[in-house]
Amino acid sequence: MTADGAVPALAAEGVTLTYDREPVFESLSLAIGEGQVTTLVGANGSGKSTLLKAFGRLLAPRAGQVSLSGRRLSTMPTRQIARQLAILPQKPLTPPATTVRELVSRGRHPHQAWLRPWTGRDAAAVEAALEATGLAGLAERDASTLSGGQMQRAWIALVLAQETPLALLDEPTTFLDLAHQLEVLGLVRRVNQERGTTVLMVLHDLWLAGRFSDRLIVLAGGRVVADGTPWEVLTPATLREAFGLEAEVMPDPVTGTPLVVPAAGSGAGGPPRPGRL
Ligand SMILES: Nc1ncnc2c1ncn2[C@@H]1O[C@H](COP(=O)(O)OP(=O)(O)OP(=O)(O)O)[C@@H](O)[C@H]1O
Ligand SMILES: [Mg+2]
Repeated sequence: MTADGAVPALAAEGVTLTYDREPVFESLSLAIGEGQVTTLVGANGSGKSTLLKAFGRLLAPRAGQVSLSGRRLSTMPTRQIARQLAILPQKPLTPPATTVRELVSRGRHPHQAWLRPWTGRDAAAVEAALEATGLAGLAERDASTLSGGQMQRAWIALVLAQETPLALLDEPTTFLDLAHQLEVLGLVRRVNQERGTTVLMVLHDLWLAGRFSDRLIVLAGGRVVADGTPWEVLTPATLREAFGLEAEVMPDPVTGTPLVVPAAGSGAGGPPRPGRL
């Protein structure tokens, strides 16, 4: 249960996650509230993808339980999970000889049944997802020929077409130029607000994480080192602990959300010297 007594959208209770050697997390408990945009941040290798995979049942916990709206994930049929939860992994594999529309249509598979193969509702969801991600003009292209950023948008379209109450997105802005990063995260926010979709995502860019999240969870050393609103979490002390980064935090002049500015000498280098380009 969350602090207000509601059943969380996702909960990990005493979860140990391991591949084959040292556990990445041991006895971790964490609840993700319904209707929120929650973002996991942390250094490379801090376990963000591992945790997301456990929430999406792509990785079974060695100990403990993961539950989805109060039901144990391990007891739920795959199709039922896929109707409730869409997951965009960090490194999705593009199936060969698939058009963009076919790829996005895969998001409708969990909604289909033996006597109900494909309906107007499925087609409308696919077209809306292509439109929302700016891919309508590329729908007939072989997905393997897309640029990195176009491909990333196609995966996001697949998640949108799935129309699940929960979306898990591992670095959804990978490969995107800044304008498209803002567009995709704006879209994620809109879907959260309009459909009430609960979003759990991983982002590296702390500025974007602060701008588009209700809650940030910082992972380091196999545990949660900070958890709260962007302003509660993005403090110089946490940035030092989680990233070894000396930084100042100031209000973003446009949105008032926290803006992390690395200090001089923190590995960021100085400004380029004139005439040296
Ligand atoms: N398939 C795997 N087999 C063995 N070890 C793994 C596997 N995947 C991840 N790990 C290890 O688990 C730890 C956590 O990895 P994870 O991918 O969750 O980190 P991350 O926070 O997502 O990092 P990044 O920011 O680089 O994506 C790392 O030490 C990593 O080497
Ligand atoms: Mg990762």
